[in-house]
Amino acid sequence: MDLYQAIRERRSIRKYKPEPVPKDVILKVLEAANWAPSGMNLQQWKFYVLSGGKRDPITASYGRLTEKNYPPAGERTEQQEAFLEWAKTYGGAPHIIVATMPRDENPRRSKMHLESVAAAFQNLLLAAHAEGLGTCWMTGPLGDEAAIREALKLAADEEIVALTPLGYPDELVPEKPRQDPELKEKVVWLE
Ligand SMILES: Cc1cc2nc3c(=O)[nH]c(=O)nc-3n(C[C@H](O)[C@H](O)[C@H](O)COP(=O)(O)O)c2cc1C
Repeated sequence: MDLYQAIRERRSIRKYKPEPVPKDVILKVLEAANWAPSGMNLQQWKFYVLSGGKRDPITASYGRLTEKNYPPAGERTEQQEAFLEWAKTYGGAPHIIVATMPRDENPRRSKMHLESVAAAFQNLLLAAHAEGLGTCWMTGPLGDEAAIREALKLAADEEIVALTPLGYPDELVPEKPRQDPELKEKVVWLE
């Protein structure tokens, strides 16, 4: 798939088919992530791939977090119900990938680690799309970071950056309009 097409067509997918993704395809996508640029060439990303019941503590925690901010059952809008269903199951995705970075007390180095892992994560999302897979960059679940740390048995020196469900999409999502499609305000030309 052409790179520009992948960038343009990738969408956040919130509904998945239950079929698992073959391991070699997941590895191919993670290899693309591993080719990202990184601060000081530290390649400081790490990816956890959760499948089957290993996903449960993570999906349950996002479900609880979302439910806490919503009115009780019966008083929710259709949109809230749909989002809650997504949160509770990650849209039924067969896999969840969690990206981490090294914890660093130095704010500049910490930012560098974050940027490196974010670059790798975007590679992952684009490669997944090129493979016909869906993803959704998620930081909301970090509202209950402890539950995710516990599920991954993370050491204290590792920090979670983002998560994504991974699987075959079971919905077509229209593209979101750009705020400034002609880049009149988002780009400053200094000539
Ligand atoms: C840093 C970041 C955090 C995000 N966190 C969440 C999240 O917690 N839950 C969610 O459903 N979507 C999340 N998203 C997805 C955005 O809502 C989505 O990218 C945006 O609405 C644009 O839609 P698109 O990805 O289909 O173009 C996140 C995206 C980014 C980049």
